[in-house]
Amino acid sequence: MKMAPIHLFQFYLYSLCIHIFTIFVYLTYYSDLFTSSLYNQIKPHYDYIIVGSGTAGSLIAHRIATETNFTYLVIEAGGSGNAILDIPVFGPLLHRSVFDWQFETTPQEQACYAMKDKKCRLPQGKIVGGSAKLNNMVHVRGNISHYVTWFQGKYSKRYITEQFKQVEKNILHLDNIRYKSILANSILKAARELSYNNTDVNKEYGETFMRSRVSQSHGKRWATSENLKYTSNLVTHALVEKVVIDKKNIARGVIISRKGEKYMITAKKGVIISAGTFNTPKILQLSGIGPRKLLDSLDIPVVQDLPVGYNLQDHVTTGLDLVTFNKSLDIGPDDMLNLINVFKYYVYGRGPLTSPGCEVVGFLSTKNDTIPDIQFMVLPVGLSSDRGAYLKNGLGVTEEVWNNYFVSTFNQHAATILPILLHPKSRGSVQIQSKDHLIPPLIDPKYLTDEEDVNTLIKGLKFVKKFIDTKAMSDIGAVLNPNHFPGCHKYKLFSDPYFKCYLKHLTLTSYHPVGTCSMGLPRDKKSVVNLSFEVIGVKKLYVVDGSVLPTLPGGNINAVIAMMANLFFEDTIGYEIYCRNRNKLLEYLFLMCLLN
Ligand SMILES: Cc1cc2nc3c(=O)[nH]c(=O)nc-3n(C[C@H](O)[C@H](O)[C@H](O)COP(=O)(O)OP(=O)(O)OC[C@H]3O[C@@H](n4cnc5c(N)ncnc54)[C@H](O)[C@@H]3O)c2cc1C
Ligand SMILES: *[C@@H]1O[C@H](CO)[C@@H](O)[C@H](O)[C@H]1NC(C)=O
Ligand SMILES: *[C@@H]1O[C@H](CO)[C@@H](O)[C@H](O)[C@H]1NC(C)=O
Ligand SMILES: *[C@@H]1O[C@H](CO)[C@@H](O)[C@H](O)[C@H]1NC(C)=O
Ligand SMILES: *[C@@H]1O[C@H](CO)[C@@H](O)[C@H](O)[C@H]1NC(C)=O
Ligand SMILES: *[C@@H]1O[C@H](CO)[C@@H](O)[C@H](O)[C@H]1NC(C)=O
Ligand SMILES: *[C@@H]1O[C@H](CO)[C@@H](O)[C@H](O)[C@H]1NC(C)=O
Repeated sequence: MKMAPIHLFQFYLYSLCIHIFTIFVYLTYYSDLFTSSLYNQIKPHYDYIIVGSGTAGSLIAHRIATETNFTYLVIEAGGSGNAILDIPVFGPLLHRSVFDWQFETTPQEQACYAMKDKKCRLPQGKIVGGSAKLNNMVHVRGNISHYVTWFQGKYSKRYITEQFKQVEKNILHLDNIRYKSILANSILKAARELSYNNTDVNKEYGETFMRSRVSQSHGKRWATSENLKYTSNLVTHALVEKVVIDKKNIARGVIISRKGEKYMITAKKGVIISAGTFNTPKILQLSGIGPRKLLDSLDIPVVQDLPVGYNLQDHVTTGLDLVTFNKSLDIGPDDMLNLINVFKYYVYGRGPLTSPGCEVVGFLSTKNDTIPDIQFMVLPVGLSSDRGAYLKNGLGVTEEVWNNYFVSTFNQHAATILPILLHPKSRGSVQIQSKDHLIPPLIDPKYLTDEEDVNTLIKGLKFVKKFIDTKAMSDIGAVLNPNHFPGCHKYKLFSDPYFKCYLKHLTLTSYHPVGTCSMGLPRDKKSVVNLSFEVIGVKKLYVVDGSVLPTLPGGNINAVIAMMANLFFEDTIGYEIYCRNRNKLLEYLFLMCLLN
C-alpha cells in the first residue's frame, strides 16, 4: 500500500479504535453467551414458537406478549446487543462480526468482479433485533398499491396503509435525520434544479427527493426488538435446526441446538419462521419442504414439494466513492473519535454519531414516465474514508482494486451516491448444500444476469452524473471520481461501456434480499406460502419475514416487512382472539335471550 504519511497515521489511528471496538463486541457476545442460560429457562410446550427475533419475529412476539394470553417462545441464534452497539454510526462495524451471519454469494458470472473470488458479501444480523441492528434505519413505505397485488386484492389499499400507520405509531420510533453534512442540502438543491419534487415519499409514492426518515429514538437506533422484554420468552444462542412435521403434515414443533445440547420444543397453535430471506428457506429445506430434486439429491425425505429458495431478488447497486470533493464534508471517522460528539450524542441525542449513513433518498424514473425504477441513497462517506481500517474487509474488494482505485481516492474526499435498481429482472436462489445445519446455504443471486438490469443501472449512473453536473453540486466542488476503475481502462471514462464495466466490477447489494418463500395463490407454481402466510400443504407452519415478499418493493424494505408481520398478527393470531370474544359476545346475547 502506498499511502501518504497522514493517511498512514489515520489508518493506524482508526485501526486502533476499531480494535478496541472489536474487543468490546466480543466481550458483549461472550458475556451474553455465558449468562444467557441463567435466565433462559426453556419449557417443552408453548402455544406459538417464533424462530428469529428480527424485524418480523420481534414484532409478532411483542404483540402476542401484550395483547394475548398465549404462551410463546422466541428462539434466536445470535446474542443480545447493548446500547453501545445501537449507536447508529457503529452499524457498519458489526458487518463481518460475531453478530453477522457472514454470508456471501457464490462466484457471480456477470457481477462482483472487483471482489475476492467474484463473491459479494451479504451481511445479515445474527443478534436480537436481526438485520435491523445492522441496517441504515431508513424508513420507506413504498408503493402501497403494489402490496395490494401481493394479496391478490384480499386487502384494500386503505387496510394496508392502516397497518403501516399502526407500526409507525406503536412499534417503531420515526425521526428525521439529526445530523447531516453539506452534501445533503446540496443534493436536495440539485434535485430542485432538475425539477424533482420534494414531497414526502411516505405520503405519496413517486418521483421525489427527501431527507431520510429514520427509525431512531433520540438519535439511538430503534429496532422492533426494542419492545421486547428480556424475559424467559426469549432464548438466545439457540439455533433452530428444523421443523418437526407429523404424518398428517401438521407442524408440531422445532428441534433446536444450544451449547451442544439438542431439544425438541412443541407448539400447539403454530410455528412461525421469521429467520430472514437466507435462513428461512434453509430451515424449510432441512425440514423436507423444498424442491424435490434438491431434497432427493441430499437424501432428505420430501414432506412437501415447493419452490422454496427460488425467486431470490435483491436491490443491486453500485457507486461507492463515485463522487469526490476537494474539501471535507464535515463527517468522517475523525468525528467519531471526537469527545464533544460523544457528549452531544449522550446528552442531546444529536451530532454525527446519530448518522445513519444515508442522508438523502431519491426516487426517479429512467424511463419516460413517473414510476421510479431507480432509488438514490446518498452517503457523505466512501469506502476510502477509513483508509482501509475496516470497511474494506467488510466489502471484500481485492487488493488490486483497493490499491489502484480506493487508495488513489485518499487525496480527495469521497462520497457515495448509490443508484439502486428497484425492480430487477434477475432471479437467483438459496439452496442448502448439506444435511448439516451448520453448513451455510449456497446463495446465488445471479446479479445482473438479465441485460435489462445492466441497462437500467447504466442509466442510473448517468443520472448520478447529471446530478454532479448541476450548479448546486459543482458549487461544493463535486466531481465524478476521475480514477479509472481497475479492469475498465480500455473504456473512455463515464461512457456507457465504461459504466457497464464499472458496475459489473463494483457490484453491491443494498441488503434487500427477498422472495425465497414467495406468497401467492396455491395454484401458482411460484408460491410457497398462501395469502395467510401458511406454508402450502402444511398446517400450522407460517413464514413471516422478508422471504415471503414475492417481488421487491420500490424502496427500502424494513418498513414493509414490519407491515407484513403486523398484518399477519392481526389476521391470524389476533383474529382468533377477536373470534373468541365475538363468540363470548354471542354467548352472552344468547344467554340474555334465554333469560328473557
Ligand atoms: C446492512 C444492512 C442495511 C440495511 N439498511 C436498511 C435500511 O436502511 N432501511 C430498510 O428499510 N432496510 C434496510 N435493510 C434491510 C432490513 O433491515 C431487513 O430486510 C430486515 O431487517 C429483515 O427482517 P426479517 O425479519 O426478514 O429478518 P432479520 O431481521 O434478518 O431476522 C432474522 C432473525 O432470525 C435469526 N435466525 C436466523 N436463522 C435462525 C435459526 N436457524 N435459529 C434461530 N434464529 C435464527 C437471525 O439471527 C435474525 O435475528 C438493511 C439490511 C442490512 C443487512
Ligand atoms: C387474559 O387473561 C386474563 C385473566 O385470565 C383475562 O382477564 C383477559 O381477558 C385475557 N385476555 C385475552 C386477550 O384473552
Ligand atoms: C404502484 O404500484 C402499482 C401496482 O403495482 C402500479 O400500477 C403503479 O404504477 C405503481 N406506481 C408507482 C408510482 O410506482
Ligand atoms: C410533483 O408533485 C405534484 C403535486 O403533488 C404533482 O402534480 C407532479 O406531477 C409532481 N411532479 C413530479 C415530477 O413528480
Ligand atoms: C416522452 O414523453 C413526452 C411527453 O409525454 C413525449 O413528447 C416524448 O416523445 C417521449 N419520449 C420518448 C423517448 O418516448
Ligand atoms: C474546490 O472546487 C471549487 C469548484 O471547482 C472551487 O471553487 C474551490 O476553490 C475548490 N476548493 C479548493 C480548496 O480547492
Ligand atoms: C392457507 O393454507 C392453509 C394450510 O394449507 C389452509 O388451512 C388455509 O385455509 C389457507 N388459507 C388461504 C387463505 O388460502
